[in-house]
Amino acid sequence: MAKVLVVTSGKGGVGKTTTTAALGAALAMMGQKVVLVDFDVGLRNLDLVMGAERRVVFDLIHVIQGDTNLSQALIKDKRVEGLFLLPTSQTRDKDALTQEGVAHVIDELREKFDWVICDSPAGIERGAQMAMYHADMAVIVANPEVSSVRDSDRIIGMLDSTTQKAKNGEEMEKFLLITRYDPQRAARGDMLSTDDVLDILSIPLIGIVPESQDVLKASNVGTPVTVSEPDSAAACAYSEAARRLMGEDVKITVPAERKGLLDWLFKRKSV
Ligand SMILES: Nc1ncnc2c1ncn2[C@@H]1O[C@H](COP(=O)(O)OP(=O)(O)OP(=O)(O)O)[C@@H](O)[C@H]1O
Ligand SMILES: [Mg+2]
Repeated sequence: MAKVLVVTSGKGGVGKTTTTAALGAALAMMGQKVVLVDFDVGLRNLDLVMGAERRVVFDLIHVIQGDTNLSQALIKDKRVEGLFLLPTSQTRDKDALTQEGVAHVIDELREKFDWVICDSPAGIERGAQMAMYHADMAVIVANPEVSSVRDSDRIIGMLDSTTQKAKNGEEMEKFLLITRYDPQRAARGDMLSTDDVLDILSIPLIGIVPESQDVLKASNVGTPVTVSEPDSAAACAYSEAARRLMGEDVKITVPAERKGLLDWLFKRKSV
């Protein structure tokens, strides 16, 4: 029986879709059977990030409306064994996500996979509500800045009140993933520190993903960074986060400032 995980944030553009792809691929590379479900109806980015945009024929909304069955809509990743995508529609809107339809699809996916990872749209409206409703656990993606952290706090409140788990009186497992962390800006005090973020949100941290060109390059070629650049700092942070989701006790790596030659010369002179 699968674990249903929602990747959510409140604020837009913080790295949810990137995280869904990178974490999902990392879990599949660990031997798990994983499906990534795109809940961002109308925008549909996950298929691009997964390099599957030309393979989309049927989508989540077709399955919800009974126009096709699940196995016809699922897209099998060509690079990673055990990784699948359920894309969403670019032409419909979020009202097409009916309560019963989503419940039915998630129930069916639970039986076929080890992990069902739901990529939430930004905001707190219907799409985000639907993406989180059936989740057993949540990864809250936040950037180290005030507006992102404030929205994450709001989302944590929703996870604890408007989901199926909350309605059953159960606690949702919640994990914080800090992304786009820039060690230089953090050192200058231009960004919130990891400790500041943890003080405000007080949920367990599963990783700190640095701001990285490798992630941008990976999105542009439609490959999760954990597959295209598995040795990069960003991919390592995602792989560690995946291991933590699997229950392993792994120490969190804090992205280090990369010293340039000038920094090095300057430091030498000033000693
Ligand atoms: N660690 C990172 N380093 C550099 N760029 C990143 C990183 N993570 C994400 N990005 C870039 O940030 C942009 C937004 O990422 P993404 O689409 O994953 O965010 P999102 O939260 O899913 O956005 P939306 O709320 O619109 O769905 C993309 O261009 C992505 O490549
Ligand atoms: Mg997205």
